[in-house]
Amino acid sequence: TVLVVDYGAQYAQLIARRVREADVYSEIVPASTPVAEIVAREPVAVILSGGPASVYAEDAPALDPALFDTGIPVLGLCYGFQAMARALGGDVAHDGTREYGRTELSLTDTSGALHGGLPSRHPVWMSHGDSVVRAPEGFTVTASSDRVAVAAFEDTDRRLAGVQYHPEVGHSPHGQEVLRRFLHDVAGIAPAWTTASIIDETVDAIRAQVGDGRAICGLSGGVDSAVAAALVQRAIGDRLTCVFVDHGLLRAGEREQVEKDFVAATGAKLHTVDAERRFLDALAGVSDPEQKRKIIGREFIRVFEVATADVLAEETVDFLVQGTLYPDVVESGGGSGTATIKSHHNVGGLPDDVEFTLVEPLRALFKDEVRTVGAELGLPEVIVRRQPFPGPGLGIRIIGEVTADRLETLRAADAIAREELTASGLDGEIWQCPVVLLADVRSVGVQGDGRTYGHPIVLRPVSSEDAMTADWTRLPYDVLERISTRVTNEVAEVNRVVLDVTSKPPGTIEWE
Ligand code: XMP
Repeated sequence: TVLVVDYGAQYAQLIARRVREADVYSEIVPASTPVAEIVAREPVAVILSGGPASVYAEDAPALDPALFDTGIPVLGLCYGFQAMARALGGDVAHDGTREYGRTELSLTDTSGALHGGLPSRHPVWMSHGDSVVRAPEGFTVTASSDRVAVAAFEDTDRRLAGVQYHPEVGHSPHGQEVLRRFLHDVAGIAPAWTTASIIDETVDAIRAQVGDGRAICGLSGGVDSAVAAALVQRAIGDRLTCVFVDHGLLRAGEREQVEKDFVAATGAKLHTVDAERRFLDALAGVSDPEQKRKIIGREFIRVFEVATADVLAEETVDFLVQGTLYPDVVESGGGSGTATIKSHHNVGGLPDDVEFTLVEPLRALFKDEVRTVGAELGLPEVIVRRQPFPGPGLGIRIIGEVTADRLETLRAADAIAREELTASGLDGEIWQCPVVLLADVRSVGVQGDGRTYGHPIVLRPVSSEDAMTADWTRLPYDVLERISTRVTNEVAEVNRVVLDVTSKPPGTIEWE
């Protein structure tokens, strides 16, 4: 394991991902982690992240120089580079030298381990106030920039190195190569974190945890639950039961993807619950978004509870599979191991008198790794590449009351939009594209010789990193035209297609 020490920048997760892209397993630890604890985890290397503080600030996160006596290879980035310089006896100036954004790096030593052979001047991404003015004893300065004399240093004998810039961001085009060289060449780590090894290790861990017990897993149609279930299936076979609630608010084809494609790919035992009628009855007459969400959540819990009880009537189940990802683990304060939960406290929809132990096969993985693992396990592309889709489904994409007819209309329009976006190769640029039916709005149109009085649908294509903020995606006009023509021709109730050009904030991604 490579430990990434998080100095409070938003970059730690990105660094950890880049390390894994170099086929080396990584985890994030807080800056407060004592050196003894770091040593106890036996890392093959440590990377010190960037951070917003000045090393001279009162509350600057400390770096214990004892780290450098452990023999563990260390790479310092940005703040980590400066903290490292200081801890080892170099000088950091608080002199107002600032560099933000794209900067040219000039190699001062073209034979260095990290930068040797790269172009002697190349762009990197900088973001710093203070700067290192003298490297510590024993280090070779290998690069400078127009404004700072010491932009990179290394002591390959002691397997220590640092760079002032951010190699982890895409704006540093040689950054990934520099990280690779540190990991593989300087630290001497064998690149062994591959998709095949992830699957093998996870399957072994699941077998060790579950023993000859039984597990249950709720499927949503999305990538996380599908991959988690597929891994558990591979580990324990038929001792896993998957439960899939069809609440009738899914998009075209999604039920079939689970019932046919997922089952064909994994051989998993699937228990599908047909609950469309029940959800529609509960939603009858309701237009308020919050009320709809509450009803859908409540009904989902009830249906899942009944389904679980059905499964439990036949067999004893001790384990519940959840698709928790590594970013959730980091954001909730980290910690490893598996908690035993009283089901109704944490997981909606499980009978009160049953205790499950959680199985979380994706706990160590980032989303892109989950997708790669899913593909390797043979899961259908539509599931593995699926864009985010809200739990309440199409229920919050019909503005107004949810009815069977309206669902059918929206499903047809949504299917066309998705088909055309995929056909034009735009899926990679789009975070997601909700299609919204304005069921309470009518407008006049003309089709053939007749007047129509139908509903508009809204296209809401957005680009985003994490759904917290988003920008509307500039879709090519010809793609918009194809969607518009097809939807108005093929979907009877829709006579107008509207494009949402609002960023988030102020608009949310979904309309409700
Ligand atoms: P908003 O609309 O808040 O959406 O900008 C942000 C992201 O969250 C998704 N979303 C949900 N996901 N249950 C979910 O599982 C929900 O109730 C829910 N509401 C919104 C939305 O699709 C977007 O990706």
